[in-house]
Amino acid sequence: MINIYPSLISADLMNLEKEIKLLEPYCTGFHIDVMDNHFVPNLTWGKMFIDAIGKITKKPLWVHLMIDNPSIFIDTLVLSPESILTFHIESASDVKKLSRRIKEKNIIPSIAVSPKTPVEKIFPFLDLVDHILIMTVEPGFSGQCFLQSSKSKIEKLFSHVNISKLKVSDLRIKISVDGGVGRENIGELAKIGVSDFAVGSGIFDYKNRVEAIKKLYELAKKI
Ligand code: DX5
Ligand code: ZN
Repeated sequence: MINIYPSLISADLMNLEKEIKLLEPYCTGFHIDVMDNHFVPNLTWGKMFIDAIGKITKKPLWVHLMIDNPSIFIDTLVLSPESILTFHIESASDVKKLSRRIKEKNIIPSIAVSPKTPVEKIFPFLDLVDHILIMTVEPGFSGQCFLQSSKSKIEKLFSHVNISKLKVSDLRIKISVDGGVGRENIGELAKIGVSDFAVGSGIFDYKNRVEAIKKLYELAKKI
């Protein structure tokens, strides 16, 4: 199954509710980037904003924490079931504890790996999370080019998971990507096994957002 989450930092922010309502019938949920200007050189939204979004949509949220100290944030966050909470391996002091806390909140725990971090770093934690995010751009900004080197990283992850007979074989773990995803690469990524996509400019750069997301689903399913 293919899941596409429009990444809201790329939306028309002065018309965010309109953007959400427009895409809601077509997407799996919405991707929200939380940046603290320390872990990444950009600053975005916090809990109040996430709560406000949660009030206007029934769709699950996929919250992507690009912050130095994810544990404080995780404690305060309330998300609907089926929502995903991603923290980065690079800023997680205790992966086990973070995953457990997220599960206690009935949210899906997800671990992200940035482009410069070897994917092997997350191998010891695969049985603690249900979702993995391979960053396909340097975290911080939307509108960047997809890093081709990420493909071999994804393949490495899949072969590890297959060899060690971990959860992907029974589809309990999902592999996702975020950054530079669009018409030119979504099919190929779906083909190698990626199921969840955060997409910013690949949707919001188009005047007709609905056509844009429909096209992405169509291309991803054509495998
Ligand atoms: C990058 C963010 C992404 C970004 C995606 O740090 O995590 O979610 O918004 O935007 P595009 O799809 O334009 O690369
Ligand atoms: Zn993101």
